[in-house]
Amino acid sequence: MRAVRYHEAGAPSVLELEAVDRPTPKGDELLVAVRAASINPTDAKRRQWGPKHLPKTTGSDFAGVVESVGDHVTAFESGDRVCGTGLHTDRFQQGSFQEYVTVPTDIVAMLPDSVSFKRGAAAALAGVTAWRALVDHAGLEPAETCFVHGGTGGVGHLAVQLSAALSTDTITTVGTEEAERAATEFGADTVLRYDDPELQESVDQPVDVIVDHRIDEYLGFDIGISAFGGRIVQYAGEDGDFEGAREGRSKNLSLHMMNMSNLASRSDTTNISEPLSSVLELVARGVINPQIHQNYSLDEAAEMHRAILEDSFIGKLVVTV
Ligand SMILES: NC(=O)c1ccc[n+]([C@@H]2O[C@H](COP(=O)([O-])OP(=O)(O)OC[C@H]3O[C@@H](n4cnc5c(N)ncnc54)[C@H](OP(=O)(O)O)[C@@H]3O)[C@@H](O)[C@H]2O)c1
Repeated sequence: MRAVRYHEAGAPSVLELEAVDRPTPKGDELLVAVRAASINPTDAKRRQWGPKHLPKTTGSDFAGVVESVGDHVTAFESGDRVCGTGLHTDRFQQGSFQEYVTVPTDIVAMLPDSVSFKRGAAAALAGVTAWRALVDHAGLEPAETCFVHGGTGGVGHLAVQLSAALSTDTITTVGTEEAERAATEFGADTVLRYDDPELQESVDQPVDVIVDHRIDEYLGFDIGISAFGGRIVQYAGEDGDFEGAREGRSKNLSLHMMNMSNLASRSDTTNISEPLSSVLELVARGVINPQIHQNYSLDEAAEMHRAILEDSFIGKLVVTV
């Protein structure tokens, strides 16, 4: 079968489309025929840094059809449409950019019939991240206000849609006029430009929940716009200095530092299957709609790796396998 692998860390050019043996499922695993996969920034960052096990097949998210199941599997059978994520973590040497993958059932959920393989793959890692941030960490409530930084990104566009479904007021930031229109369609009540020098003054109400992927840039800003008792959830960003510790204390804020990858790599966290099932159910009901900016083939994986870190686009990049 074909797999997009790398044998050393480096530029996108280290990715190679290779012929490898088809894997065999162990007792608690499924063999899935992958139909679609999406790319996330973590796939490209891991390729740059070098994962624990090499060679590594790239890709975390997948959607496909169960080909066969291990002897101990009871919850799935061959022919099931499934979706999963978490293959980027060091727990796995395989990834999703290959024709067949063996996966444990704790990272897999059923894919509803009405959700295409491409949309399932697009919703997986980004959707679980948005769900974990807004539901599990922030506990966003109906009468609350939520601010999502970067509302047209892979995670951001799903977080805006989830926030619009859960809460009264969703505020987001974007970079272009086209993105402003898209974020409004995703359900944002207020769309601001992240490069506006008056951004903080444009937020005209205290915000209960803030979802931040550039915490080194925005922690001071987040504290400034927070309501008393606000929750700031950060899922990415570098180390950095910030101002506002005194103000944050006086507002009784909580800072949630989360990593969706824990769900795939630690046995003491929720299984990925649970939040992923919830996300896919919302996609099936039309509550959230993952956007596919561009579709690729496996031999274009290096271009996907370049684009995910360098280009600006709305939603997700998907590969059809
Ligand atoms: N911890 C976790 O569990 C977890 C899970 C998923 C992702 N992540 C990380 O979270 C980050 C985002 O992931 P993603 O998949 O959403 O990436 P993405 O699809 O590349 O989206 C990033 C978004 O950030 C926007 N942006 C750029 N500059 C900004 C600024 N100054 N202020 C606000 N927004 C800005 C971009 O807008 P433009 O298009 O205008 O540039 C884009 O919409 C990545 O670092 C990723 O590795 C972490």
